[in-house]
Amino acid sequence: MQSESELTRRQFLGRVSLALSGLAAAVVGVPIIAYLLSPLLQPPPEEWRDVGPVENFPIGATVEAAYDDPSPLPWAGQTARTAVWLRRGSETDFTAFGVNCTHLGCPVNWLADADLFMCPCHGGVYYGDGNVAGGPPPRPLTRLAVRVTDDQRVQVLPRPLTQTIVRSA
Ligand code: FES
Repeated sequence: MQSESELTRRQFLGRVSLALSGLAAAVVGVPIIAYLLSPLLQPPPEEWRDVGPVENFPIGATVEAAYDDPSPLPWAGQTARTAVWLRRGSETDFTAFGVNCTHLGCPVNWLADADLFMCPCHGGVYYGDGNVAGGPPPRPLTRLAVRVTDDQRVQVLPRPLTQTIVRSA
């Protein structure tokens, strides 16, 4: 037979267990909810990002250029570092492609010999102009605005991947 004090102790431990479970759920759940809601609550700033001097981009070449995402989440860490593929067609003609595949977002690779972008995840293939050549990608690589500043620096205007997908759909 259980005494009254044992039942009370069990009830107390049950409540402590419940409180700790609620605290653990809050610790895990609050950042997830904040992450999911953050694009809705705060539109990312549109900031030009410097990707290097003009001489880093030879005419006729497609070169990867890294930059920091202008709207990294506080916990983004290394993932805030992203890149574009920058193609220079002439002295003043630059085209920037988002590095992420339009299927599920894997970073695509540039194969200069074949003049193709290849996605390593599911075999998506894009032509050098960013149009889909084959595989699952539903649309061309995302293009980003490019400009050359007075001091001959190349800048791109990035957009977060989620916003890009919504606009392109
Ligand atoms: S993520 Fe590129 S083909 Fe699927």
